[in-house]
Amino acid sequence: EQIMKGGADHFMQKEIHEQPESLLQTMRGRVQFQRPALGNPYFNPRIKLGGLVEVTETLKRCRRVMFVACGTSYHAAMAARQTIEEMCEVPVVLELASDLLDRRCPIFRDDSCVFLSQSGETADTLRALEYAKAKGALCMGITNTVGSSISRSTHFGVHLNAGYEIGVASTKAYTSQIIVVTMMALQLSEDSISKREKRDQIIDELGQLPGKVRRTLMLDGTMQELAKQLMSQHSLMFFARGYNYATALEAALKVKEVSLIHSEGILAGEMKHGVLALVDENLPIVVPETVEALQPVINIVPLQLLAYHLAILKGLDVDQPRNLAKSVTVS
Ligand code: G6P
Repeated sequence: EQIMKGGADHFMQKEIHEQPESLLQTMRGRVQFQRPALGNPYFNPRIKLGGLVEVTETLKRCRRVMFVACGTSYHAAMAARQTIEEMCEVPVVLELASDLLDRRCPIFRDDSCVFLSQSGETADTLRALEYAKAKGALCMGITNTVGSSISRSTHFGVHLNAGYEIGVASTKAYTSQIIVVTMMALQLSEDSISKREKRDQIIDELGQLPGKVRRTLMLDGTMQELAKQLMSQHSLMFFARGYNYATALEAALKVKEVSLIHSEGILAGEMKHGVLALVDENLPIVVPETVEALQPVINIVPLQLLAYHLAILKGLDVDQPRNLAKSVTVS
């Protein structure tokens, strides 16, 4: 086990720090970064997710894209939703797998359903997939596990290529999931002239992302200090909006999972509609910076580190948190 941790104390720590490499692996061979002739207005950089090639036209014409997932995978879909909406101009809905099943949510033949699951084995997501298939929808899988139940049962799919994730709290799979959905948006909008500028900007930024994540990881010591200040708190709140609402939810989930501190992610625009009542001078507030499409990938990193350090300072088992399992294979 010590060898598998590769010098790190815990799998969660190792996996957080692996993100520059895991993101690169997720993009390798799929994103064309270099512009062969700089300034050539006719050069359109390509994104190629092999699994999508044969269904690109069907995906472009679908009634809506429905993302179905649980836990951290659900937050990844939320983080990239706006990019799909903006680049493809298609309605996007997000569904928690268990809730979709409880509601027997209407799904139509011209819907495209995307099942996001690190393990590819989560029971609720798998059951939701069978439900959507029975309704005749086009079903796509995005998993980190070749040969998993979800990757075998979907009509087509994309592998995350983030490398094996062992820590129960998902970290590197999350950032790779956001990148895969972003690449999907870029691939589907390839022919759109009006999206060209934005598309080029995102592709350029994808190339810089591993380096930026590496620099963000240098905040490790700062987040450890912050964790010392916050470790005796009973409750934490993460406020954000837009692309980063998912960051706030995912940060709160990480803190709950591994450090057992109550925490909430709150959409800043909703604060005045109730949550404000909880805010007093003692409540710690963490606000990640908000900007564009790839910010969620960078902004979650220090918050993963914060959750990790809170758990370590409290003497908790970060890799096997109380009551949780890496893959929830029962409904
Ligand atoms: C469990 C894990 C979470 C994960 C969720 C969904 O709750 O502890 O880290 O986000 O399942 O798992 P999946 O493999 O479907 O992404």
